[in-house]
Amino acid sequence: MIGKVRPLVLAAALVVAGVATAGPAEAATTLGASAAAKGRFFGAAVANNHLGEAAYANTLDREFNSVTPENEMKWDATEPNPGQFTFGAADNIVNHARSHGQSLRGHTLVWHSQLPGWVNQISTGSALMTAMQRHINGVAGRYRGQIAYWDVVNEAFADGTGGGLRSSIWTQRLGFNTGWIEQAFRLARTADPNAKLCYNDYNTDGQNAKSNAVFNMVRDFKARGVPIDCVGFQSHLNINGVPGDYQANLQRFANLGVDVQITELDIGGSNFTTQANNYRTVVQACLNVSRCNRIVTWGVTDKYSWRASSTPLLFDGNFNKKPAYNSVLAVLNS
Ligand code: XIL
Repeated sequence: MIGKVRPLVLAAALVVAGVATAGPAEAATTLGASAAAKGRFFGAAVANNHLGEAAYANTLDREFNSVTPENEMKWDATEPNPGQFTFGAADNIVNHARSHGQSLRGHTLVWHSQLPGWVNQISTGSALMTAMQRHINGVAGRYRGQIAYWDVVNEAFADGTGGGLRSSIWTQRLGFNTGWIEQAFRLARTADPNAKLCYNDYNTDGQNAKSNAVFNMVRDFKARGVPIDCVGFQSHLNINGVPGDYQANLQRFANLGVDVQITELDIGGSNFTTQANNYRTVVQACLNVSRCNRIVTWGVTDKYSWRASSTPLLFDGNFNKKPAYNSVLAVLNS
């Protein structure tokens, strides 16, 4: 019988009866809470030097339940000199996140960019491997047990049609094969056994030569028991929109048995309606893939975005909600 009672009528009856009716029909009003209701996280990249700005911290803490340090865990920030670790800024973000109940994405252990000069000057493969081991132990070890997901290796693949690894100190000293990437994942697993370990890259947001190459590596790693748990899709997009096969691409990686995450989402565009539609497409695609369990925007406010001139985020320079914010919240609540 009760199955035939229309929900509104039922709610009204319960209200009359003095029974609280906070139920699933009540939509959450922040990105984090709405994502949580769907079993996901919604995060932002955070810059330590802005945490003292009340509007910045208030927006972050009200809306986001996942935090990625934007620069503070990178090699140049954490090990500026060989074996000499500096964690002040990273610690500050970690403490902020922990005291506000926010889950952490660590970013990033091995990358070709934002390396201190001394790493680029290492002249042999064995010395570079030794440095990589010390770095992963030092940084992932420092935050052992506190990081939900680590971007272990960032942007190792080249753009274009070749489908190979990018030329960098890593490939120049250790080879154009994925052996050193494998080693980084094994070291990270040892340094922080409870963190989930991700490979993270850009221009992998649809099916193309680059994402195919990443796909082949992940398939190989899974087949051989190399400890990889997740693939991050940066999704630095522009007004031209979202690749038509965005969801299918996420799904094919998920089918390999890894979590997939949107790790650095920003979508450039001065037309806020178009931008809002593109954001909706990305978030809906993620929600449609059950293993897509986290979406992170690369910043909180347009004014501090690394792409500030293309106003790519969900909050404007005054921390007002943009149309894209409303479209994302609506999809999360749908
Ligand atoms: C960017 C930061 O946002 C900037 O502040 C910094 O100057 C350069 O790096 N891919 C990544 C991120 O993985 O670490 C980059 O972050 C953006 C591109």
